[in-house]
Amino acid sequence: MHASGNPSSMHWSGRSARRLLDDARDKIARYLNVEPASLVFTSGGTEANNMAIFGCLSLAKPGRVVVSAIEHPSVLQTVAYWCERLGHELYLVRPERNGCVDDETFCAQLNEHTVMACMMWANNESGIIQPIESIVAACRKKNIPILVDGVQALGKLPIDVAALGADFVSFSAHKIGGSKGVGVLAVRRGVPLETWALGGGQERGRRSGTENVPGIAGFAAALGVLNYADTVNVRDGFEEALLKKMPDVTIYGKNSPRVANTSMFTVPGMDGETLLMQLDLAGFAVASGSACSSGKREPSHVLRAMGVGERAARSSLRVSFGAEHTLNDAVALVNELVRIRALLKHMAGL
Ligand SMILES: Cc1ncc(COP(=O)(O)O)c(C=O)c1O
Repeated sequence: MHASGNPSSMHWSGRSARRLLDDARDKIARYLNVEPASLVFTSGGTEANNMAIFGCLSLAKPGRVVVSAIEHPSVLQTVAYWCERLGHELYLVRPERNGCVDDETFCAQLNEHTVMACMMWANNESGIIQPIESIVAACRKKNIPILVDGVQALGKLPIDVAALGADFVSFSAHKIGGSKGVGVLAVRRGVPLETWALGGGQERGRRSGTENVPGIAGFAAALGVLNYADTVNVRDGFEEALLKKMPDVTIYGKNSPRVANTSMFTVPGMDGETLLMQLDLAGFAVASGSACSSGKREPSHVLRAMGVGERAARSSLRVSFGAEHTLNDAVALVNELVRIRALLKHMAGL
């Protein structure tokens, strides 16, 4: 089989691409435990989130949208935009200081005017796992459509979309080693979804455009390949060494349920971006907590929502470990952080 044909074409090459696409759809559906027809392939997690939010809100009468304040920007910005355009009221639910959104606090905001809820499975900055089961159950009971952004959960947590019962669940291939620019939205059977990509009617009319067959086949092939389970030892070893050498560091969500590979922390008195650049020079690829929007660096909205002060939020770093990393790598990173901090302090005359 080869992927060069157009899966909508009837000739042999198209049929070959169609078989590849169908096989990939079946495999991904089995992995997620959904019907193959419930999957809508997209250009990534961002598009899947946009699709669910627009597709749901544009069909609803003006009402309330309840969203956690720690969602990925592809949810936060999209709900804000469509709420304003369509006349919905947006209610953001902040997490507790431990980084978890309290399910009772969230569900207390669901009322008869609520037209949609969004709650991510695991946070992309802190790795903290959210209480989605009880939130989804409450939404289902009240007939409120809910989007679960599962991008950070895929490959790191057991996934059973049917058991979860959410109306929309989004995933992205590149988080599990697939290619960038491929994602999927799982839509529960019978849930209405307004189409925004009109054209050839692919994906059962829900997303027109020739499917990215090689990307989707790669997505299916990547499922279950990366094993994050063992990264927990590396991550925990990293945090232990970090706290030993820099006892003033704060690790976020240390006592909360977290995915195995993520560590987010603040190094007091340091600028996260400066640390990132110094670590980059030393060959380490980490992220700072801040995001750049319109040329202005904003401190992490996730940490700010958790009640972390602006200074501490600007001093934060995020490290994600992969299956290729060892405890030695983790210790080397800690040593480098210690060296850089001492150097920067020396340079600042502190
Ligand atoms: C939680 C979460 N949602 C959505 C996305 C967006 O996915 P994509 O990069 O495939 O557009 C990301 C990407 O990092 C993410 O972490």
